[in-house]
Amino acid sequence: MVYKIIKLKNVNFRYATSPILNLVNINLEINEGEFIGVMGESGSGKSTLIYLLNGLVPHFFKGDFEGSVEVLSNNTLDYEIQDFADKVGFLFQNPDFQIFSPDVESEIVFGLENLAIPKKEMSTRLNIILEEIGITELINRDTTALSGGQKQLVSLASILIMKPQILVLDEPTSYLDPIYSNRIFNILKKIHQSGTTIILVSHNAEILGELAERIIVLDKGQIIGNDKPNMIFSNIEFLNKYKLIPPPITKLFLDLKKRIDFDFEIPVKFSDGISILSDIICR
Ligand SMILES: Nc1ncnc2c1ncn2[C@@H]1O[C@H](COP(=O)(O)OP(=O)(O)OP(=O)(O)O)[C@@H](O)[C@H]1O
Ligand SMILES: [Mg+2]
Repeated sequence: MVYKIIKLKNVNFRYATSPILNLVNINLEINEGEFIGVMGESGSGKSTLIYLLNGLVPHFFKGDFEGSVEVLSNNTLDYEIQDFADKVGFLFQNPDFQIFSPDVESEIVFGLENLAIPKKEMSTRLNIILEEIGITELINRDTTALSGGQKQLVSLASILIMKPQILVLDEPTSYLDPIYSNRIFNILKKIHQSGTTIILVSHNAEILGELAERIIVLDKGQIIGNDKPNMIFSNIEFLNKYKLIPPPITKLFLDLKKRIDFDFEIPVKFSDGISILSDIICR
């Protein structure tokens, strides 16, 4: 049987200063190794939902909390946020929330130092991660003098170097140019293939279409969609209702379908779209 690495049961949450519930009756189970995309309009509760996964809600963000959140079979109410630090790698939407060391190197190795990892291994892991993300030249920089995108990359390095079992990322490419976004995309793909559970909040349907196995859609703090990407992205009424934009390849096929009759599944991955088009052309 597949291990449910995350279990949310009947969760309601209202921030202390909010007049209304910000998460409403959330029920969600995530399998170990699954890649979950989280979408929804601004203010729909995406960040709040993922704050449940390392105990930020309700330990740091206070308010009225009901229900149960189990991560790696531990109820988050029974633990502190730092107990999840090495197990749940968490990348904040705003990189300024994440960085607190004066220089890049100490920021990236901070978590490993806390785990008392031997110096030699720390240095090996550091070099690998710097090379992989492509930020070797930032190693001696002051963290205060980094751009938003550089902060995002350094924060990501500080999380990935810990090799967490669960990776939770809130818009990790929002400040990045297409080259770096693509690099992060490939890193996430590789980490997922190695068995890590990934929860990725993103407005980028193209990335979610390529990577996610399941997409959760939020509206006003409620889960209103929980399905495979091709089911979510080919439902035009649903997309319009919740103001979601599908991946470009899906949009192309949805538009084609209005003009010609075909019976194949609407693709969400670029390579699948190309295969279908080749078949049609070569028929
Ligand atoms: N610290 C807070 N105190 C009070 N209300 C908050 C707080 N943080 C968020 N909210 C409210 O909770 C709701 C959900 O916010 P959240 O940040 O989770 O949305 P989001 O889907 O992540 O949006 P975005 O796409 O803009 O990042 C919003 O109505 C927001 O105003
Ligand atoms: Mg958010």
